[in-house]
Amino acid sequence: MKPTHPVLDVLLNRKSVRAYEGEISQEVKDAIIAATLRAPTAGNMMLYSVIEIADQSVKERLVETCDNQPFIAKAPWVLLFLADYQRWYDYFITAGVEALCEERGAPMRTPQEGDLFLACCDALIAAQTAVIAAESLGVGSCYIGDIMENYEVHREMFRLPRYVFPIAMVCFGHPTEQQRAREMTTRFDRKFIVFEGQYRHLHAEEFEEMYREQQERLFEGREALKGARNVGQFMYLRKFGADFTLEMTRSVRAILKAWVTG
Ligand SMILES: Cc1cc2nc3c(=O)[nH]c(=O)nc-3n(C[C@H](O)[C@H](O)[C@H](O)COP(=O)(O)O)c2cc1C
Repeated sequence: MKPTHPVLDVLLNRKSVRAYEGEISQEVKDAIIAATLRAPTAGNMMLYSVIEIADQSVKERLVETCDNQPFIAKAPWVLLFLADYQRWYDYFITAGVEALCEERGAPMRTPQEGDLFLACCDALIAAQTAVIAAESLGVGSCYIGDIMENYEVHREMFRLPRYVFPIAMVCFGHPTEQQRAREMTTRFDRKFIVFEGQYRHLHAEEFEEMYREQQERLFEGREALKGARNVGQFMYLRKFGADFTLEMTRSVRAILKAWVTG
């Protein structure tokens, strides 16, 4: 028998919500935050921080700095999830770790790439926990990956110190009727995603099958669409090769440089 559970229903019916109505009560926000703080966290260190963004002018600035997405300004609640080693580093300093290392004859190390990735895991797991907690209370949400762009601007806006990486932002709000009615997005068949034992490259026929539905829906029988002849070319031009992706790479490099070499 197929297992069923209300939590599974929430997971299987979630979709991103980009148009909101009303406000979110403080009780609901508090419940979402309480669930978020129970997310698994590496070494129970909570290598993340969350910034609640309430200021309307800040949301409006984020519309521009996150690739011109106007719905950000209309979201009643916006949370910025930061991978954060600064708090632990500050504590190490406060706790006399420098002197301890000196006694032991080994220099105190600073947060490096591995620490950053672990903190990103923590921050993203916390973010997704918030998304699901919200969903369970009827509050929709949408990630904004573009928060990784324009590092220098976001660093100023949120006073981000060296060992803090803005890895995800999430807009929250009750979905409008139109959003509730909107069809769910599709997903690739599990056989293309879930492998047994080891990684497997897909071959051309499998890609054909994997993208067939998307190809038919997007192209509707046309030979070409916006200069592309298939989904691969379309997505390359629209996402992978687009200006915002290039800006994200530039910005992430700047964050990495600040984190690793100062
Ligand atoms: C890391 C990440 C970044 C995303 N960034 C954006 C974004 O900047 N703007 C947006 O409208 N949606 C964004 N999304 C939402 C995705 O577009 C959405 O999850 C995807 O299209 C699947 O749709 P669904 O969530 O409704 O199933 C992001 C999702 C993730 C996981």
